[in-house]
Amino acid sequence: MSAKTLDSFAPAGKRILLRADLNVPMQNGKISDLTRLERLSPTIKELSEKGAKVIVCSHFDRPKGKRVPEMSLRPIAEALAEVLGRPVAFADDCVGETAQAAVEEMSDGDVLVLENTRFHAGEEENHPGMSQALGSLADVYVNDAFSAAHRAHASTEGVAHILPGYAGRLMQAELSALEAALGAPKRPVAAIVAGSKVSTKLDLLTNLVEKVDILVIGGAMANTFLAAQGFDVGKSLQEQDLHETALKILAEAKAQGCEIVLPVDLVVSEKFAANPPTLTVPASAVPAGMMALDVGPATVEAFIKRLPEIKTIIWNGPLGAFEIPPFDASTNALALAVADATEKSSLISVGGGGDTVSALRAAGVADRLTYVSSAGGAFLEWMEGKTLPGVAALSQTA
Ligand code: 3PG
Repeated sequence: MSAKTLDSFAPAGKRILLRADLNVPMQNGKISDLTRLERLSPTIKELSEKGAKVIVCSHFDRPKGKRVPEMSLRPIAEALAEVLGRPVAFADDCVGETAQAAVEEMSDGDVLVLENTRFHAGEEENHPGMSQALGSLADVYVNDAFSAAHRAHASTEGVAHILPGYAGRLMQAELSALEAALGAPKRPVAAIVAGSKVSTKLDLLTNLVEKVDILVIGGAMANTFLAAQGFDVGKSLQEQDLHETALKILAEAKAQGCEIVLPVDLVVSEKFAANPPTLTVPASAVPAGMMALDVGPATVEAFIKRLPEIKTIIWNGPLGAFEIPPFDASTNALALAVADATEKSSLISVGGGGDTVSALRAAGVADRLTYVSSAGGAFLEWMEGKTLPGVAALSQTA
């Protein structure tokens, strides 16, 4: 990792602008998952205990440059105080006089959360004025928001060129896990990629066939690959217009020596509903009028048997329609096997991306993999081989 970490400077007495990702999931006005706050807390505690003034900034949701009261960070600052077990002050604006005054009131060790950066249009525009305004609040910039690092915004990118920038502990952990999984992995390395559409994961598949030894394709996107090879997939979700692309990916994988694993059996049903009548059929024989909703047990068993030969696994996307039972069966079975192999052998297992984290959590293994990323879009872009502006800026910092 080329970014400097918290080990490279003495925080005591310094004003630190900490870019966090407080964009937590909400349901009916309540935070439904505290993971992002819990993952952030070691950085805040370390900086505060070392005597820094910790000024936390973040976006929340997509207010598009306007002040939207429902998208205030105030309730999230309150939740953060509970997670940290210490008081957290709140400033009603992230720049300007209000923010300046709140920072001036801070003593060493204090924690302050600034209002949503996206209430200002300059944030998403990465406007130099916005970066200057944020930078004027602090002496040092620490970015702990890997999950927002795919955005080139003032608080994730611009300000790193104004203040000396460092990676926080969460950013550091994410980058080392991802480097171990795909940057310089122990081989053989397998990727499990699933999800509903090939079209949304095209760049990812193209990048992975060049980097991994085995690529397991599941979810509805596997239907497109099966149909492209001439299998009748009944009324399964698939992308007719991407058959040629799917065949190109298969050919490229062959040329690169990457083994593609497609389902050999599928769990099918007439409708997508909880616990409907289902059949398990060979992937080549989906009955007309039925749709594939999960990868079948023979496919999963065959891959589980191969786990001892695999040294690294990177996983993005549930294998089936995991939100509705019994279509979570293959994801759960594979998740448990990967967790066991991680604990019992030296398998390095890394998972990430919105649904993947929910699926691993539902399978009860989110704490049993080597690393589960807290990022959604950023994890995907990183897997696609893209440079993340927030990470790049830390290595070209002021
Ligand atoms: C996320 O939740 O993936 C990040 O906070 C980024 O949010 P955004 O997609 O609104 O930029």
